[in-house]
Amino acid sequence: MNDTATPPVKTLPDAQIVTAVHHWTDSLFSFRVTRPRTLRFRSGEFVMIGLLDDKGKPLLRAYSIASPSWDEELEFYSIKVPNGPLTSRLQHIQPGDQIILRPKPVGTLVLDALLPGERLWFLATGTGIAPFASLMRDPETYERYDSVVMMHTCRTAAELEYGRQLVEGLKEDPLIGEYAHKLKYYATTTREPSARMGRITDNLTSGKVFADLGIHPMDQAHDRAMVCGSLAFNIDVKAVLESFGLREGANSEPLEYVVEKAFVGDGV
Ligand code: FAD
Ligand code: A2P
Repeated sequence: MNDTATPPVKTLPDAQIVTAVHHWTDSLFSFRVTRPRTLRFRSGEFVMIGLLDDKGKPLLRAYSIASPSWDEELEFYSIKVPNGPLTSRLQHIQPGDQIILRPKPVGTLVLDALLPGERLWFLATGTGIAPFASLMRDPETYERYDSVVMMHTCRTAAELEYGRQLVEGLKEDPLIGEYAHKLKYYATTTREPSARMGRITDNLTSGKVFADLGIHPMDQAHDRAMVCGSLAFNIDVKAVLESFGLREGANSEPLEYVVEKAFVGDGV
């Protein structure tokens, strides 16, 4: 017998098994992994996930959990950064592979960090849609709000596809289907012609989104918002929300809006 043929599988610390992978574009993919039985989280939170590096040390990054808190598995939606320490490896995972998942969920994009309101806005660019992919699939979101508006902006239509299919699927979802009519989806591109275009900031400031959806403008009494995008986007959208009278809250002090970075940029 050749005893070197089948080396023992090295079990990663906090290992979870990849169950599905879907590549959306050359730079975006989503995947699902098994859920630790002890992991409890609030929809919208993030955890640290990763792989072992060449030296056998855990290489971990923050990732929003894109699946809702009731899901038996965990879903993630990821960028592929050229030469990115983690994602240049993570993009090659296959069903059956292991990843590391540190089961300590945290984050500000949770329903409890907002005062009660009538309408909830999810404002995201790029992979910033991930926490809202979770919240959009949580019945509690619709139990707390009369209506929900998901604004997502990317450069191209292909980059919107993960979110578009997710929203489309809600109508058929046995748990969320009855609430799907409460969700308005407003997706725009900025660098490719499409049916709806423009930055979220511009479409809010000009009032175009309210006119297109036939809804009343944002105000402090009725509206609550959650923001997730690049630092520049977050800064600009905060100014827009403040101009409508909304104030930034936190878990410790719920107010009208909350913000989280979708990633930490170069030098930031
Ligand atoms: P890194 O060395 O981490 O990043 C290299 C550079 O790539 C960064 O400086 C930045 O300029 C750019 N970059 C990194 N991530 C992104 C991104 N998501 N979109 C655009 N540019 C990016 N990433 C996800 O793909 N999905 C998530 O759900 C997600 N959730 C996050 C939640 C939080 C709270 C934070 C802080 C970050 C999150 N990130 C998410 C970013 C993630 O932690 C990593 O930065 C990303 O996976 C790239 O890892 P890397 O090691 O390959 O490159
Ligand atoms: P734009 O194409 O006009 O820059 P990126 O791919 O650079 O992370 O950007 C993702 C999306 O977020 C793009 O559609 C981009 O629009 C938009 N965006 C980037 N920065 C801002 C900002 N400061 N305010 C509003 N939208 C932004």
